[in-house]
Amino acid sequence: MDLMEYQAKELFAKHGVPVLPGETVDTAEAARAVAERIGKPVVVKAQVKTGGRGKAGGVKLAATPDEAVEKARGILGLDIKGHIVHKVLVTEASDIETEYYVSFLLDRANRAYLAMCSAEGGMEIEQLAVERPEALARVAVDPVEGVDEKKAREIAEAGKIPADVIDEVTRILVSMWKVFVEEEATLVEINPLCRTPDGRIVALDGKVTLDGNAEFRHEDVFTAYADVVADDDLEGRAKKKGLNYVKLDGQVGIIGNGAGLVMSTLDVVAYAGENHGGVKPANFLDIGGGASAQVMADGLEIILSDPDVRSVFVNVFGGITSCDAVANGIVQALEMLGDKETKPLVVRLDGNNVEEGHRILEEAKHPLVTVVDTMDGAADKAAELANKGA
Ligand SMILES: Nc1ncnc2c1ncn2[C@@H]1O[C@H](COP(=O)(O)OP(=O)(O)OP(=O)(O)O)[C@@H](O)[C@H]1O
Ligand SMILES: [Mg+2]
Repeated sequence: MDLMEYQAKELFAKHGVPVLPGETVDTAEAARAVAERIGKPVVVKAQVKTGGRGKAGGVKLAATPDEAVEKARGILGLDIKGHIVHKVLVTEASDIETEYYVSFLLDRANRAYLAMCSAEGGMEIEQLAVERPEALARVAVDPVEGVDEKKAREIAEAGKIPADVIDEVTRILVSMWKVFVEEEATLVEINPLCRTPDGRIVALDGKVTLDGNAEFRHEDVFTAYADVVADDDLEGRAKKKGLNYVKLDGQVGIIGNGAGLVMSTLDVVAYAGENHGGVKPANFLDIGGGASAQVMADGLEIILSDPDVRSVFVNVFGGITSCDAVANGIVQALEMLGDKETKPLVVRLDGNNVEEGHRILEEAKHPLVTVVDTMDGAADKAAELANKGA
């Protein structure tokens, strides 16, 4: 689970990583009281789960409480890379002399953890990583040994953190490691780690991703930081219904049973799309083994509320749940959806009891449903319909 900056900073404070005082608000007017309490110039910051907020106009300095209200008004409601700002953090503004970069992350490929550190942090870090990778130190961290004082110093030195602040940065790295291990994160990042003109070091930004597999050990944190799912958030809605759904940017909605089958369906549709105006899969959706009417209806409902979708490809292999049960599931799901079902559906069934499955679909004669026997043929049909619906 990705956390917002203010949530990351709460975990930082809990484990001794220095942060500045601040509070989040969801109305512009509420920013005034916070700015007054802080009693110094503040920075108003969009709380969305994406980077590059500064460049998108989501981070603004405000010298007075009035200005904080004005800046909050400008930031609330902004669309930053598809994330609408519903909350802003109003936090003390800091003078900045230098911006450093530090992070810990899970390095899956090397079955280890990785520390990254640079004396040249800030908003251009992605560019730095590409153009001058040597300026961004990468230090492997042994998962068993972890990060003690010595290891932390090695990381800071590799990142060329200046000698006069290296003790403090070392201390912060050890505290960050505590966040990483004790909260069971897969990413803890501070950018910028700010050095003030008087030599103090403070985290001005924070990104934390918690390991969803460890949720059962941290239910309090996960509950406190759970997203209030917006109505237009398809992935959130799917998750609530227990569906394994990932939104993609194409036009052909995909439903399948089994992750492997769905993955190969995506490939086949992307390939077929090349002959039909370049249409692509609109999502990944694995409805698992059951394929009951309710699950099918839930899945279709999510896919049909994606405005980009122009056709839907249902690709099901009847195994434990045989094709007749799946066909009945589809027919009943279409009844449950009623008028909501407005886009053409291509169905390909194979496996146990496939003849009976086909018979059920033929008998139902739903005007929007086309049955195609092969996976390639069905993908081609779905791509063709998506292209026509453009
Ligand atoms: N409290 C603060 N006081 C002064 N300047 C700040 C403060 N917070 C942020 N800034 C400035 O704004 C810049 C962008 O802020 P921040 O890094 O929090 O957002 P961001 O653009 O989303 O970053 P990223 O792309 O790393 O997610 C910082 O690099 C820093 O220069
Ligand atoms: Mg940042």
